[in-house]
Amino acid sequence: MAVLISGGLGYIGSHTSIEILEAGMDVIIVDNLFNSKELVKDRIEQITKKKVTYYNIDETDEESLEVVFKENKIDSVIHFAALKAVGESVEKPLEYYYNNLISTLVILKLMKKYDVKDFIFSSSATVYGNAEVMPIKEDFSLSVTNPYGRTKLIIEDMLRDIYYADNTWNIGILRYFNPVGAHISGLIGEEPNGIPNNLMPYITKVAIGELKEVSVFGNDYDTVDGTGVRDYIHVVDLAKGHVKALQKLASKPGLVTYNLGTGKGYSVIELINAFSKASGKDIPYKIVGRRAGDVASCYADPTKANVELSWKAEKDINDMCKDSWRWQNSNPDGYK
Ligand code: NAD
Ligand code: UD1
Repeated sequence: MAVLISGGLGYIGSHTSIEILEAGMDVIIVDNLFNSKELVKDRIEQITKKKVTYYNIDETDEESLEVVFKENKIDSVIHFAALKAVGESVEKPLEYYYNNLISTLVILKLMKKYDVKDFIFSSSATVYGNAEVMPIKEDFSLSVTNPYGRTKLIIEDMLRDIYYADNTWNIGILRYFNPVGAHISGLIGEEPNGIPNNLMPYITKVAIGELKEVSVFGNDYDTVDGTGVRDYIHVVDLAKGHVKALQKLASKPGLVTYNLGTGKGYSVIELINAFSKASGKDIPYKIVGRRAGDVASCYADPTKANVELSWKAEKDINDMCKDSWRWQNSNPDGYK
């Protein structure tokens, strides 16, 4: 079985490629290197001792992407490729709508043409907006507050329409909570461009001495210690969720939607403390004002995925911190 992994050299795509290869499937990666390096392909091959087929193609380019469908017998597609920075999406909505929506439309159009009907989409907890009740279940109402989130919701709606019109599709919508951590080898991990927006990569840059201290965005939320609470999930657990979702699609379930999270929330201060303990590094921080658009708490009810996919996040906060630190510490300049 061959899986086309769109955006497969990125953070989540590279970890998922490894799990898919280790499950015995073939992997065809398409990535335009907008937010990744070709070296990641070598690292995936080094870790798995298996070969990967790779195309440097922009997925908004239908003619180029069609070559991949012509040259390979593809059984299913996992679509990671997207721009993903919330703040940037507010500044550059056109780029976000163009890249995220057109790449998805092109890939779906080619799948239809070549009769490939199993599709997994990387959605996000961001589609739940400001959910009032925790933990979040898949049937909660959906709303978004920024262009990035809107691309996710538009694509989810498109997928529901496509399935409604043709129920021979099998579609897995996976809503990720907060992916952190890295492969245990320390060979691949997250490499954000510039100063990180997300908490874990910011902490690792403080630990390595590249940034001075963490700015904690608000300590007056209604949470355990006043700082924001999130459902951090180890990227390898998340990657394994994709293998389970592919197996689910093979049973022809139609369109299915799952939260991929641990179900447990940690505050900013709890994560900083867990990281210090796991790395032996002191992480200086200061409390600053709230970040616009942030919610107090966001964590999943992963029961549906636990039951229907026979999947459960296994790694704990200590594993997440240790593995994030190993990646950062052994690659201080990332993939450079
Ligand atoms: P990433 O930026 O590391 O990976 C995305 C990859 O897609 C990159 O390698 C990039 O070069 C590639 N890409 C982007 N546009 C492309 C195009 N037009 N053609 C070909 N390749 C293209 O991001 P990630 O963290 O691995 O996220 C993967 C997916 O998961 C994204 O869809 C993202 O929105 C979603 N997601 C991520 C998070 C998170 O916190 N990382 C949370 C929820 C959802
Ligand atoms: C962000 C995205 C969200 C995406 C999610 C998963 C925003 C507004 N939202 O959410 O769309 O689905 O990532 O990757 O970017 N924090 C600090 N200091 C920092 C950075 C973060 O205190 O320097 C706090 C935040 O206020 C929050 C928590 O840490 O309480 C986690 O933040 P972050 O890693 O950015 O993730 P989310 O805000 O959950």
